[in-house]
Amino acid sequence: MGCARGGARLVGESRANATMPSTVATVPWVEKYRPKTLSDVAAHKDIVDTVTRLVDEKKLPHLLLYGPPGTGKTSMILAVARQIYGAAATQMTLHLNASDERGIDVVRNDVQGFASTRQIFSKGFKLIILDECDAMTNDAQFALRRIMEKYTKNTRFCLICNYVSKVIPALQSRCTRFRFSPLPDAYVTERVQHIVEEEHVSVEGRGVDALVKLAKGDMRRALNLLQSTSMASNGVVSEDAVYACTGQPKPDRVKAILDVLLNASFHACVAHLEQCRSEGLALVDILQDLGSLVLTLHLPQGVCGDLLASLADLEHALSGAVSERLQLGALVGTFIEARQAIVNAAV
Ligand SMILES: Nc1ncnc2c1ncn2[C@@H]1O[C@H](COP(=O)(O)OP(=O)(O)O)[C@@H](O)[C@H]1O
Ligand SMILES: [Mg+2]
Repeated sequence: MGCARGGARLVGESRANATMPSTVATVPWVEKYRPKTLSDVAAHKDIVDTVTRLVDEKKLPHLLLYGPPGTGKTSMILAVARQIYGAAATQMTLHLNASDERGIDVVRNDVQGFASTRQIFSKGFKLIILDECDAMTNDAQFALRRIMEKYTKNTRFCLICNYVSKVIPALQSRCTRFRFSPLPDAYVTERVQHIVEEEHVSVEGRGVDALVKLAKGDMRRALNLLQSTSMASNGVVSEDAVYACTGQPKPDRVKAILDVLLNASFHACVAHLEQCRSEGLALVDILQDLGSLVLTLHLPQGVCGDLLASLADLEHALSGAVSERLQLGALVGTFIEARQAIVNAAV
């Protein structure tokens, strides 16, 4: 069983001192620049303040951190562990993440085993971090209920997940919940700028803006994109390089597609979208960007609503294993219908 007792929490620590030359491509920047202390965690000031106070007053409850990926959940609890235990963090913390098995056996053996052993020389509680706990089976979650209560005296649990609805209510009610929302663009920009300077990346034009826009509040995504773009384009991050690296359509490209869809004939629209596909653009990416663009068009309310509903259906269909080619035709058909509806609304 791949139980990482004490293993995962050292993530990036030994490398994080930035003593390595920046050209070492094997160090992921997300790990190299993982916040070390609570004050390094960007945004979420209210959560950081509350948790800092609880730690200082030695009143830390069981925690449930939830929210979309790349918003600092794991980083924050690792920083908390470092703040509470210092160098002893390895012995005092058990960190299970997605790569560990999450059945009931792990809860009964590893979690209970760690929770029940007493620390002879150190006082205070131990910390058990169950990262990505939405991957735990229901049985395992039920078993955890009892263990959390039984060992509250010498153990604190921190559950982390993306979807809080996947955690059984009984566990939710035993924890203090904190929601990590997507990070505001300003914070992502600031962090990216910092790393750009540290790593001597040269930015051209609106390169950083493009990165931040594509990251959509996910800092991990922003940093990974920064690193891969700078590696792919010899340390130069420009808007074009960023879009080329992700394969996402550029905003101008999507505008051009919308223009065609609103004006050209059915066959010309299909040919245009086929052309986009052959350039390597994914229909689902085009569809999502079209959705946001349609909102800026000031269409009659009814038309706009119907159009967005149809785009949502198409996106749903594309998320299943359906033929992209067929959906491409449906997309064109949707816009042709919307065009007719605009004309009807005008008379
Ligand atoms: N709030 C934040 N402040 C600074 N860096 C962050 C923040 N959130 C995420 N990161 C960066 O993204 C990486 C992944 O963050 P992590 O805490 O593992 O996210 P998750 O919420 O998915 O657990 C970190 O190594 C760090 O570099
Ligand atoms: Mg995490």
